[in-house]
Amino acid sequence: MTRVGPSTTELEAEVARLRAELAEHERRAGAQTEQLERYAADLRETFKREREAAQELRRSYVATVRALSNAVEARDAYTGHHAERVAAYALAIGAAAETELTDRPEIEFGFLLHDVGKVAIPDAILYKPEPLKPDEFRLMARHPVIGWEIVRDVEFLGEARDVVRSHHERWDGTGYPDQLEGEAIPLAARVFAVADTLDALTTDRPYRTGSSFADAREIIRENAATQFDPRIVEAFDRISDGDLERIRAEIG
Ligand SMILES: [Fe+2]
Repeated sequence: MTRVGPSTTELEAEVARLRAELAEHERRAGAQTEQLERYAADLRETFKREREAAQELRRSYVATVRALSNAVEARDAYTGHHAERVAAYALAIGAAAETELTDRPEIEFGFLLHDVGKVAIPDAILYKPEPLKPDEFRLMARHPVIGWEIVRDVEFLGEARDVVRSHHERWDGTGYPDQLEGEAIPLAARVFAVADTLDALTTDRPYRTGSSFADAREIIRENAATQFDPRIVEAFDRISDGDLERIRAEIG
């Protein structure tokens, strides 16, 4: 009799072989899954460590920048916390203007360090209560460039360096040191200029009491399109006196 197919024994053997093969595949797949899970866990741990390291680095940057800005302010007893206040006003104005500045944390460093160049200005000029004579003003007006020379090689400051150099430029092109006009002035410096004037007007000085926020707002509005970017002034006007009060109270 001719055989037409495998015998039962052969079939059973084949089934057993296939089962063994399947079991081996499953074992290998299981081992691969375990290995992948270990990789994923390693990767998560690495990301976590990287994130912690980046946060630590940023805390160091902030501490360094604050230390430098405090060193500048320590010379001027009357402007106590000016840099921190003006940085907070500028961040609020930048946010109200819906600029991309809020996505760039290094910009705050520029707000804090804007007057770092004043370290090179003699006390007799820096603290002179009377108006400066032309040659004294010329020296004083060098502080943005001196400041920029101090920070220009500090890569992590990025565009914050523009604030140091350009915070005394005016929208109409009559500012200093580069007589930049309109949108040629870096955005962060245009935002900062409004904040700086706001703080100067609303802070008490030995020879005068600070204005109210309402009066300061009026003065800033009057100088839109001459000293200040009108779009930034509009954004500033959307921040309530209450919010400005809160910023001032928080910083002291
Ligand atoms: Fe300045």
